[in-house]
Amino acid sequence: MPSSPQNGRLEIAVEVNGERMRRHVEVRKNLADFLRDDLGLTGTHVGCEHGVCGACTVKLNGRSARACLTLAVQADGGVVETIEGLTRSASISDLQAAFVALNAAQCGFCTSGMLVTASELLEQQVVLSREAIREFISGNICRCTGYHAIVDAIEQTMHSRAAR
Ligand code: FES
Ligand code: FES
Repeated sequence: MPSSPQNGRLEIAVEVNGERMRRHVEVRKNLADFLRDDLGLTGTHVGCEHGVCGACTVKLNGRSARACLTLAVQADGGVVETIEGLTRSASISDLQAAFVALNAAQCGFCTSGMLVTASELLEQQVVLSREAIREFISGNICRCTGYHAIVDAIEQTMHSRAAR
């Protein structure tokens, strides 16, 4: 945590999607608002704003995290990856293609959070049952109730990576 707040703001040093930066942020600003409002990374969505829906999921130091429950100053010294960074790196291009092919995105509001959460699961390089996939993404709510297709897409990607 940085020190010396001035006018309710602190300077943080953070790496976001591979770019190191220093920014002055309000101590009460959450990470989702910092990413969206200060950095223009609007792929991180804000739904419930109290840790329930998962729409705001990003990676913080390699683990998925609720950006609405994380203060931006808590990311000081850390590494943040958003859906924009994951897309740019092409690290989940196969997963994104599976989402498109299997109609796993409807309105798309939950999709970025789903993809970020699923990316963490896929990094584990394990092949899991559908029930285990559902359990892993159970913190991400889809209001379009597209869970079946979402699990299909993750499962297909999991199996195709395992077969490489
Ligand atoms: S907006 Fe963060 S969990 Fe819903
Ligand atoms: S696709 Fe609409 S909320 Fe999930």
